[in-house]
Order: sequence, then C-alpha cells, then structure tokens
Amino acid sequence: MTDRPTKPVLITGAAGNLGRALTKFLAAEGWTLRLTDIMAFPDAVPIGADFTKADLNDGVTILRLAETCQAIIHLGGVSVERPFEEIIGPNIRGLFHIYEAARREDARVIFASSNHSIGFHERTETIGADTQFQPDGFYGLSKAYGELMGRLYWFKHGVENVNIRIGSCFPEPVNARMLATWLSYPDFSRLMARCVLTGKVGSCVVWGASNNKRMTWWRSDARETLGWAPQDSADTFAGQLAGKVSGDPVEERYMGGAFCAMGYSRSAPAPAELFD
Ligand SMILES: NC(=O)c1ccc[n+]([C@@H]2O[C@H](COP(=O)([O-])OP(=O)(O)OC[C@H]3O[C@@H](n4cnc5c(N)ncnc54)[C@H](O)[C@@H]3O)[C@@H](O)[C@H]2O)c1
Repeated sequence: MTDRPTKPVLITGAAGNLGRALTKFLAAEGWTLRLTDIMAFPDAVPIGADFTKADLNDGVTILRLAETCQAIIHLGGVSVERPFEEIIGPNIRGLFHIYEAARREDARVIFASSNHSIGFHERTETIGADTQFQPDGFYGLSKAYGELMGRLYWFKHGVENVNIRIGSCFPEPVNARMLATWLSYPDFSRLMARCVLTGKVGSCVVWGASNNKRMTWWRSDARETLGWAPQDSADTFAGQLAGKVSGDPVEERYMGGAFCAMGYSRSAPAPAELFD
C-alpha cells in the first residue's frame, strides 16, 4: 500500500472509463474518495468513497463537493470530438467551476488533458512539454484552454496543477498509432497517485504514455519531479498491430491521428515552417 492523502480526493468523471479504473485502484490503496459524474456510477461504490450525481455546469454543487478536499482529479467532460456548443459547457465552464473550487479549498487540480491539444504536430517531430499548442479540434482546443486555465490559477492564485496529456488510455492498444500513444490503466493510475502525493508540483505537464519504444514524439516533462516512470509497454502488441494503419494521409501524418482527419478541409497540409 502506498502513502495516502490526509484529506479526501474528489474525482470528476468517475463513472467514465478512466474514472472507474482509477476509483478501483485508489480505493484498494485505502484512499478516501468523493466521486461525481452526470451519469450514475455503474459499479458498487467502494468502501471509503461516496458518489454524488452532478453536472459540471452546476458551480454551487461543485463547490460543495470540493469542500475539505486535498486534490481534485478532473476527468469529467466531453471526451471526444463534438460540435463547439456541446463542448463549451462541460469542458470550459465546468473547468472554471473546478478551478474556483480548488482556489477556495487550497486544493490541487490534476487535469486530464489530451494529446489532442497538440494533435497537429507531425509524427516525425520530437516535442517537449513547452511545445506550442496545435489542437486538432474543438475537444483538443478545450484541453489547451484547460491547461492555460491551470497557468492562470497558478500564477495568480497559487493553485497547483498537473496537466496530463493522455495519449490513448485503454485496456489494450488497438492500432499502429497506439503502439506509440498507449497508456495502460495501471500506469495511468500510478501517475495519478503521484500527482496527488508529490510535495510540490507548481503548474506542470506530463505526457501520458507507457514505456513504448515507438513513442519518439514526446519528451521533457515533469515525471522526475513526480517520481513516476511508466512500467508497462505496448511493444508486446507490435506483431499484431504494426500493419494496422488507416491509409488516410492526414490521420497518419499527425500525432492526433483520426481527430486530425475529422472535418479536415485543407487542400494541402499546412507548411511546418510557418509554425516555428
Ligand atoms: N481515454 C483516453 O485515451 C483519453 C485520452 C486523452 C484524454 N482523456 C481525458 O480523460 C478523461 C477521462 O476519459 P475517459 O476515457 O474515461 O472518458 P469518458 O467519456 O469515459 O468519461 C468522461 C466522463 O465525464 C462525464 N461527463 C460528461 N459531461 C459531464 C458533465 N456535464 N458533468 C459531469 N460529468 C460529465 C461523462 O458522463 C463520463 O462518465 C476525459 O477528460 C478525457 O478527455 C482520455
């Protein structure tokens, strides 16, 4: 059993795929958890946890849920590409409610950001955490905005935050791209625990991928400060997945994959030198 926080930890999006996996992991470590989601929690609520159904748009309820919490692990919101109007409430206004609650409680925010905030970097590049945001849709744009909100609340109010640019966090990788971007559930859960338990984090970024040989794209992040190193690897799936590519030139060119190709309307790719 690892160390435990001294105060409760609020998890938003607890009924989602990552929320359920993380709840199981942290409850087994004996953590006191406050779980919330707009959907009902589909599993038995573990000992040491309670669940409240709530909309991230409801700022008063979010404030109440965050009372006395040490950290907020913010996984809730729209998690795929959707029209702008569907994203703005949960992912932008909801995030504001999370940061206001964190400010009031002096709590740390751990934000599930995404590789889609930088999706239009080419796969031939190697980029650091300080790279330029190049979102690949309205979803990725909301994640870039979320990271910037973290910057604002750190510099202006001293609210600590860790922004995890998650690659592909699923039980198993399912295509060639995920041989680079896959993050196992156990690596994800151990990272989240370190984000809460590490003494001082300031406002920082971590790339969320397991120890995959093909992950040559992402470097230089806060993992050492957090004391986290991924233990799992997609490499064992290489034999069965290496040939599993889409054939779409936009999807295969950029880090964001299929999200880049969605609704793409340029006749030719953007010249890289204009972005340097
Ligand atoms: N799974 C991945 O590979 C991956 C990659 C990059 C980023 N992320 C991010 O990690 C987080 C968790 O991902 P996931 O795969 O578990 O997604 P998910 O869609 O399974 O979970 C998101 C949860 O947020 C809840 N939610 C949506 N709107 C809400 C609202 N208005 N109020 C309250 N709750 C609301 C949903 O009901 C859902 O349970 C998301 O923020 C996602 O963007 C995931």
